[in-house]
Amino acid sequence: MSSGGTRTDAVGLGLLGCADIAIRKVLPALAATPGSGLRLAAVASRTPERAKEVAVRFGARAVTDYPELLTDPEVEAVYIPLPPALRAPWVRAALDAGKHVFAEKPLTTDPKETAALTALAESAGLVLMENYMFVHHSQHQYVRTLVADGAIGELRTLQAAFTIPPRPATDHRLRSDLGGGALLDGAGYPVRAAQFFLGDDLTVLGASLKPHETHDVDIAGDALLRHPDGVTAHISFGMEHFYVSRYQLLGSTGQITVDHAFTTPPDHRPVIRVDRHNHQELRTLPTDDQCANTLTHFATAIRTGTPTDTTTSIAQSRIIETIRTAATARTGSMETSR
Ligand SMILES: NC(=O)c1ccc[n+]([C@@H]2O[C@H](COP(=O)([O-])OP(=O)(O)OC[C@H]3O[C@@H](n4cnc5c(N)ncnc54)[C@H](OP(=O)(O)O)[C@@H]3O)[C@@H](O)[C@H]2O)c1
Repeated sequence: MSSGGTRTDAVGLGLLGCADIAIRKVLPALAATPGSGLRLAAVASRTPERAKEVAVRFGARAVTDYPELLTDPEVEAVYIPLPPALRAPWVRAALDAGKHVFAEKPLTTDPKETAALTALAESAGLVLMENYMFVHHSQHQYVRTLVADGAIGELRTLQAAFTIPPRPATDHRLRSDLGGGALLDGAGYPVRAAQFFLGDDLTVLGASLKPHETHDVDIAGDALLRHPDGVTAHISFGMEHFYVSRYQLLGSTGQITVDHAFTTPPDHRPVIRVDRHNHQELRTLPTDDQCANTLTHFATAIRTGTPTDTTTSIAQSRIIETIRTAATARTGSMETSR
């Protein structure tokens, strides 16, 4: 504790589910960032052996199961990287247990759930943060400043894409009961990019979803969004694709392209391409660790008692649901478009 009474010790974090994203990215970043203000206290898995293995690897304690993690006194905050459809009940249980929550994206599969959970967190004075790491990478603020300074004239449209290669047949992304599909798994990145540059007030003008051949999920989609001032965003997402993680801002006098935009590794030096009439400029920026920045942001919000801004999560949830509605309304149902 500091003399003023504000706690300065690291927030004890509990991992609820030993997900690939936790083991491969979030926990290594946590271990490599001692100043983040978080420390891994406990690990829970459906499989006790798995919890032990991960706990030993990252210097924490294994607990018996998910419910035990939520009553663990050392756990002040819970990281929830479960498949999308399982997230809402566990986020609610964690908030009900008085824990702050760091949840994978999308926060829920239903905008009503997102609104209810963010309201619950607010009324309980708890931090609830959805894990969109890329917004914590300094390259995007740099681009935002470029646009504000008129580097491409007036912004006309944003084009953004997040597409990944096929996943194994056992992956939760291929199970509709677990909230699978490209819309829920991948659309959030380009939609979040549109929100970052255009704002949350976006209308869905049209959308398309492509169904999987054999599984009851969508594997690809596109949507056209529009801000009231007329600036548009064309977003693409998919999970049987060449890997793309990119956005472009098209303006009246130029264009900005950012590659490796959403999952930028900490050792990657971003190269921002600015095209103007007869002229192309490549601006190489310093490396930045979006995962470490995100964790630090979460811990700071907890220790300073500053709720994170959840309006963007609420708006995004609504936009994603509207994309689904627009795509199915266009074809009667996604199935009929096969
Ligand atoms: N923010 C980012 O950059 C980022 C990157 C990748 C993924 N993600 C998101 O993170 C989430 C997890 O993705 P992932 O690739 O890490 O998935 P994953 O490896 O399949 O992990 C999901 C975990 O959930 C737990 N789980 C509980 N019930 C389950 C069930 N019925 N079926 C499957 N798993 C169950 C499992 O942990 P136990 O068995 O240990 O309990 C499993 O390891 C997804 O929503 C994805 O969109 C975010």
